[in-house]
Amino acid sequence: MSEPLEQVIHGDCLLALEHIRHSTVDLAYLDPPFFTNRHHSSISRDRKSKFSFADVWSGLSEYSEFLEARIRKVHKVLKDSGSIYVHCDTSANFLLRTLLDSVFGANQFRSEIIWTYRRWSNSARGLLPAHQTIFFYSKTDGYKFNRIYGAYSETTNIDQILQLRARDEHGVSVYATDRDGCIIYGGEKKGVPLSDVWEIPFLNPKAKERTGYPTQKPVLLLERIIEVSTDEGDLVLDPFCGSGTTLAAANLLGRRSIGIDTSQEAVVLTRSRLVAPTKTDSALLRKGRDSYATADKDALSLLAGLDILPVQRNSGIDAFLKTTFDGLLVPIRVQRRTETIMDAANKLARAAHSKKATKAILVRTHKSDDLFSEVLLPRSIELIDSTALHIKARVAELLAEKVTENAANTAFQWTLCDKAAQRP
Ligand SMILES: C[S@@+](CC[C@H](N)C(=O)[O-])C[C@H]1O[C@@H](n2cnc3c(N)ncnc32)[C@H](O)[C@@H]1O
Repeated sequence: MSEPLEQVIHGDCLLALEHIRHSTVDLAYLDPPFFTNRHHSSISRDRKSKFSFADVWSGLSEYSEFLEARIRKVHKVLKDSGSIYVHCDTSANFLLRTLLDSVFGANQFRSEIIWTYRRWSNSARGLLPAHQTIFFYSKTDGYKFNRIYGAYSETTNIDQILQLRARDEHGVSVYATDRDGCIIYGGEKKGVPLSDVWEIPFLNPKAKERTGYPTQKPVLLLERIIEVSTDEGDLVLDPFCGSGTTLAAANLLGRRSIGIDTSQEAVVLTRSRLVAPTKTDSALLRKGRDSYATADKDALSLLAGLDILPVQRNSGIDAFLKTTFDGLLVPIRVQRRTETIMDAANKLARAAHSKKATKAILVRTHKSDDLFSEVLLPRSIELIDSTALHIKARVAELLAEKVTENAANTAFQWTLCDKAAQRP
C-alpha cells in the first residue's frame, strides 16, 4: 500500500518521532513553544472550539532539555540531504542557536532568517518588536537547496546588471567588451537571489486561512521554506504542527507531510484543514509596498509646509492635520481638477463623518461651478482657497484696477482735450 500524502499524529513528538524511519525526511520545520512562560489560548473562528497550549517552564534548563531531546530525534530522521528550520523569538533565540550548533554542528549553520512584518502598537516603551527568527541548518554539506529569485529593486541599474563582466590585467572587475570595444550583454538574468530577511505579512484577523489557533503562522512563510529546501514529492515534517500550517503549505506545493502535536484539538483542526487547504493572497507581496501609496501626489504637494499625516487608501481624505480640533482628527481634502466643489465637499464630509471628525478642511483649486454658494456646504467643512486661486483672484483684481485706472486717465485726457478745444 502506498504511504498517505499526509499523516497527523497525536502525541508528544519525542515518542512519535521514534516511529519515523531514520533518514527519510527531507525537511523539518519546528515551531515549538518559544519560552514565553505563558499559557496560549484562543477560540476557533466559528467560536465552537477552544485551543490552548502551555509554554510555561521551571527555567531555561528545563526548556533547553525539552528542545534538545526533540531536536536530536529530528536529526536522526532527516536524510543526509535534509534541512531543519527552527522558529523562535527573542525569548530564547540565543539558546536555540547553541542547541542547533551542538546537535547539527556549527559548520552546518546555513542562515538566520529574519521574518519581518508590520505591526501597529503603542503599548510598550522601547522599540516595537517586528520580527521573529528562523534558524536554518542542514544535516550535511550535501544539502538540497533551490535558488529563489526576486525582482530587482527600483534603484538597480538594470542596464549595468545585464552587461557581462570580465577581469582586467590587474584582476579588477570591468565590463567585458568585444574587439570593437562594444559592451557585451550577458543575457537573461534571473533576478536578485532570495535574502535572509523575509517580509511576509502576519495573518490579519480576517485572513481566509486564519483558523483561530494561537500563534498560527502564515502559509506563505511555510511555502517559501518548503520551496527552498524540497522538491515535489519530498517529505516534510512538523513535530509541533499546531493548526497544521506546514501540512497545508506542503499539500499546496505537492509535498508529502507528517505533523505531530500533543493537543487533540490541534490534530482535529489540522486534519480538517487538509480537506481543502487554502492560503491567503498577499496583495503586499504580489503588488509591492509602493502600490499602497495611493495618496494623490499633486494633492499632497498643495499641502506642502503643513504639519500633516498623508492618508493612503481613502478616496475622501488626503491627509489629517497633526493638530487635533476638540481632541478630534481634522481631515483635509484637495479638490481634484475633474470634480466640482460640491462633489469634493460631499466626498470629504462622508469620509470625515466615518472618522467621527467634526471639522474638515476642503482646499478649493478651481471655480468652475457658477451655481455654487458656500451656504450649500456641509457645516463641518471649512472652505479654503488654494494659493493658486488666491494669486489668480489677486491678479484679476489688479487687472481690473488697471482697467479702471486707464479708463480714468483716458477720461481725464479727453476732458483736457475738450477744455483745450473750447479755448478761444
Ligand atoms: C507555536 S505552536 C505551533 C503553531 C503552528 N506552527 C501553526 O502555524 O499553527 C506550538 C505547538 O506545539 C505543540 N506542542 C507543545 N509541546 C509539544 C510536544 N512535546 N510534542 C508535540 N507538540 C507539542 C503545542 O500544542 C502547539 O500546538
